[in-house]
Amino acid sequence: MTDTLTIALSKGRIYREALPLLAAAGIVPQDDPETSRKLILDTRRPEVKLVVIRAADVPTYVQYGAADLGVAGKDVLMEHGGDGLYEPLDLRIARCRMMVAGRRDAKRRPGRLRVATKYVHSTRRHFAARGQQVEIIKLYGSMELAPLVGLADLIVDLVDTGNTLRANGLEPLEHIADISSRLIVNTASMKMKHAAVKALVAKLAAAVEDRQP
Ligand code: ATP
Ligand code: PRP
Repeated sequence: MTDTLTIALSKGRIYREALPLLAAAGIVPQDDPETSRKLILDTRRPEVKLVVIRAADVPTYVQYGAADLGVAGKDVLMEHGGDGLYEPLDLRIARCRMMVAGRRDAKRRPGRLRVATKYVHSTRRHFAARGQQVEIIKLYGSMELAPLVGLADLIVDLVDTGNTLRANGLEPLEHIADISSRLIVNTASMKMKHAAVKALVAKLAAAVEDRQP
């Protein structure tokens, strides 16, 4: 009997960039999540379904086995932690950097600096490793606004072209991590559906190599 496989991913950037890789494995969605309201998409392979969810929820679905596999940014995985998950493949899509940013002179202010971010764990780890005490303010988006309105001295956010920072008079100050999207697999699915998972990982790995040898 063919094992069914459910793959969780977020719409937008990750969906767009994962699509050609999935297509190389014969996984072609029958609906477009940008226009359809469906949350579970059938694919050309009847045993494979996609679930389209928020980026930060992907590791949770995979950890609990609600999806066998998922595509998640390393930024999201660094926040979530690795419980119940394997991370067998770097898909090398949605690439960017996690950076500390702020006004050029932001770090010169005396006293404990305030850092606004949605990446609370990564931020805490980064500054703790430098022995620097900071106050972390949790936000859910538009971090670049925080230094402009006096909410924080620094932000920790993702930077690609640097256009968003520049447009807001901010500069990248410290590199935290290189980010790309990873294929993640539920640890039980890896055992119970080993052949199907292994075959899919191999096809995706080949597609990644073909795109960027
Ligand atoms: P949501 O829209 O649910 O709030 P999100 O804003 O994190 O989530 P996206 O903007 O689609 O969703 O980002 C998804 C992933 O893409 C991020 O987790 C990160 O790994 C990567 N990413 C985010 N911004 C960029 C960027 N500017 N360039 C390249 N990759 C990025
Ligand atoms: C991401 C990130 C930065 C921006 C960086 O936001 O949060 O704001 O990209 O990219 P750049 O260096 O090329 O300007 P995104 O465009 O995904 O918007 P969102 O945070 O609202 O999802």
